[in-house]
Amino acid sequence: MTVPRLGLFGKGRLGSAIAAEAGAALAWQVGREESPTTPVAVAIDASVAEAVEAHLAWALETGTDLVIGTTGWSVPDLEGRVAGHIGVLAASNFSLSVALMARFATVLGRFAALDPARDPFLVERHHRLKADAPSGTAKTLAGALLRGCPRKTEWTLGTPAPHQLSIGVVRAGAEFGTHTVGLDAPAELLELTHIARSRAPFAQGALAAAQWLHGRRGVFTMEDLAADLLDPLFAFGGKP
Ligand SMILES: NC(=O)c1ccc[n+]([C@@H]2O[C@H](COP(=O)([O-])OP(=O)(O)OC[C@H]3O[C@@H](n4cnc5c(N)ncnc54)[C@H](OP(=O)(O)O)[C@@H]3O)[C@@H](O)[C@H]2O)c1
Repeated sequence: MTVPRLGLFGKGRLGSAIAAEAGAALAWQVGREESPTTPVAVAIDASVAEAVEAHLAWALETGTDLVIGTTGWSVPDLEGRVAGHIGVLAASNFSLSVALMARFATVLGRFAALDPARDPFLVERHHRLKADAPSGTAKTLAGALLRGCPRKTEWTLGTPAPHQLSIGVVRAGAEFGTHTVGLDAPAELLELTHIARSRAPFAQGALAAAQWLHGRRGVFTMEDLAADLLDPLFAFGGKP
């Protein structure tokens, strides 16, 4: 993989993992109250939600493509601001295995839609220092599941009403990130779990995202990157 010249916002856990993977491709890595030093092809944001808007403004001003791995942020009219100027890829989880899991989640949702006794749910666990809950990945997976199951229209962390998808959150210890999507039916339980054993899958995915994004214009997600690779896996010409 040829990684373009990179800049990195954030010196925390994710930022350090990306820096370790990027090696010589990394031109700079800045923390709070530090500024980029040289032009780069792509910058990666691995900082905090409150800083994302300023990093986007910098990317637009300098014409730098931006991969946003930070979660929990929202920027009004992102599409309108970015259109035609730079490429932005925002992903709550850079792991391609999680992109595959999102596709499975939609199929689980569709399967649940066939029978109201099949009750879909989602559980996520992260280290105790994680700022947002549920995780960005949990929201992505919940969205994928909801897309498949029309009787569920939103998720909740509390006691769910019939139209709500129940999400459980644990914040404890040093867990990198575990997500389970499942269907609970009276006589069966179906669960699919992704466990991150380190931050390496996120760092490798961030670099793949930077490479894929460079030169594209508009707002993308990991979905766009994953579609080429993953969708052919769901073609069953004969017997599966
Ligand atoms: N997309 C993915 O695959 C993925 C995977 C893991 C995590 N994440 C997300 O990535 C983000 C970072 O996670 P983390 O575990 O690395 O958090 P972290 O260890 O707390 O690191 C965040 C870093 O950002 C720095 N920072 C704060 N304001 C900044 C600014 N204006 N410019 C540059 N850096 C600034 C912080 O510095 P101070 O210490 O000085 O405040 C800190 O070093 C979170 O939103 C997390 O949910 C995404």
